[in-house]
Amino acid sequence: MCGIIGYSGVQNATSILIEGLKRLEYRGYDSAGIAILHGEELAVRRSVGKLENLENLVRKEPLGGTVGIGHTRWATHGRPSEQNAHPHRSGDLVLVHNGIIENYLLLKHRLETEGYRFDSETDTEVMAHLLASYMKGGQSVYDAVRSAVGDLQGSYAVAVLCMSEPKVIVTARSGCPLVIGKNGEGTYLASDVTPLLVHTREVVFLEDGEIGVLTPSSISVTGMDGRTINRVPVQIDWDADAAEKEGYPHYMLKEIHEQPQVIMDTLGGRYDFDTGEADLPDLAISPEDLIRARRIWIVACGTSWHAGLVGKYLFEEMIGNPVQVDIASEFRYREPMIQEDDLFIAISQSGETADTLAAAREAKRRGAGVLAIVNVVGSSLAREADGVIYTRCGPEISVASTKAFTGQIIAMYLLALHMGRVRKILNIEEGRWWLDQYMMLPGRVEHVLKQEPNILASAKQYCTKKNFLYLGRGINYPIALEGALKLKEISYIHAEGYAAGEMKHGPIALVDEEMPVVVLAPRDRLYDKTINNLMEVRARNAPIVALASEGDHDIHRVAEVVFPIPDVHPLLTPILFTVALQLFAYHIAVLRGLDVDRPRNLAKSVTVE
Ligand code: M6R
Repeated sequence: MCGIIGYSGVQNATSILIEGLKRLEYRGYDSAGIAILHGEELAVRRSVGKLENLENLVRKEPLGGTVGIGHTRWATHGRPSEQNAHPHRSGDLVLVHNGIIENYLLLKHRLETEGYRFDSETDTEVMAHLLASYMKGGQSVYDAVRSAVGDLQGSYAVAVLCMSEPKVIVTARSGCPLVIGKNGEGTYLASDVTPLLVHTREVVFLEDGEIGVLTPSSISVTGMDGRTINRVPVQIDWDADAAEKEGYPHYMLKEIHEQPQVIMDTLGGRYDFDTGEADLPDLAISPEDLIRARRIWIVACGTSWHAGLVGKYLFEEMIGNPVQVDIASEFRYREPMIQEDDLFIAISQSGETADTLAAAREAKRRGAGVLAIVNVVGSSLAREADGVIYTRCGPEISVASTKAFTGQIIAMYLLALHMGRVRKILNIEEGRWWLDQYMMLPGRVEHVLKQEPNILASAKQYCTKKNFLYLGRGINYPIALEGALKLKEISYIHAEGYAAGEMKHGPIALVDEEMPVVVLAPRDRLYDKTINNLMEVRARNAPIVALASEGDHDIHRVAEVVFPIPDVHPLLTPILFTVALQLFAYHIAVLRGLDVDRPRNLAKSVTVE
């Protein structure tokens, strides 16, 4: 999740851009850069790491000029480095970009044959050269942007500056946010309203498929077809803190609501409908090795471990491969019977969790190929692993992990499909069928998010309880664990996650009218067994909150509260159930007046044992 900024006006652009980038820092970044147009010169300054590195550089090598664009990068393609930092340049033009160009390899080959040379590993540089190639044919920047976006697949918010049209910034969006605004001293653009608030409170939110043109005194918006769009500016009353959270009261809630986008981004460009295959370019584990792997090991901590448990059910059912899932802190201190041909998967949002890193090193030492499923590009785990699947969640700021979990599961759906295809367990038709199912998920998650008012109402009903039991079966047993973890982390309520069939072997002793039981009860082959467990709970007068398949009326006979969950293949239900449980935990914690984003005693990244 990068941040972009632009200014065209009468003031010194450098300080406006740097201040703007500081306000975008919260989005996370690994490098930053600016480009300023001054007279005959278009100068670029970029640096890796903290924003103060860029500030120091600009102090040493100052830039004059009143027009410029800037960027904070959160790496997706290519490691964090100066070369990969934005702005990217092609001849007389520079460009900053947020998003993912899915067909960049195809475009790169086309542009290489036209003679363009690439200096970075990014998908963005493709767009810079693409624009240059259209401008070479005589087009204006605006027309080149219109032509280029027709070639692009994926998501983008871009800002382009060119020496041939000084003072003009052309900006466009599809799938990534972009806001523009104006005051008496110039015009501004940014990824969100946060950096704009000090300049103006009246902004225009660009919609997908729109282009904005900024000059020092005007902003105009058109569609890709060139027709003018008259958009009435929106008055923003948020303070800076609210703006960073895009109006949500907490990062956790914002991140929960980002999950449809996370699914799209993590899937984006990683599948091919023609062949029914998943395309994982950073996997770096050959098809032969994937065929040879007799056993899959998954190792992680906390929420990532729960994702790993989901992976066990997934890989075993979808591709028939035995899977062993371990808590990283346990794995590293026992004698795991891992063998050279085994595939070892380490899952981590941060890529810096000490136990997960140590477990991955141990697996490597024992000769296994290590694959990391990681969110943070360039993190220790990503660097040390043989191959990586990045979850493209953007920075997760709330300590309680939400969207990273969803990204991790999506990464495993892709891997399971890939392995199924290379092992010829799944044919083309089956591959396409799975892709279709994956593509439905963002819409289904939206549907769950729309139930938030009902979930809030139930949270009100139960927020004073002291103990909760979460039950699930099969692939939703790990989701019972995750639901309970979310509740205890942020509400400090004691919550236990259990396999529903295990209830009779102990936890039923706890069940009484004071202990709500949250149950995951999709209409799958285990449904009747789950209902039997619920009857036992009912007999002890415990209130039951059921997450059940939409249209399941029978469940109302046993449950006090029902959250209907849209229909998907049973292996895909975990994501939908998790989103509902995240909202449930979130609202309970808020109702109890707690600091949801920074729960006591917890750190976002556990880098020590
Ligand atoms: O960064 P990681 O995914 O490796 O972190 C693992 C756990 O520390 C993390 O999931 C933790 O359990 C979260 N607080 C869960 O919300």
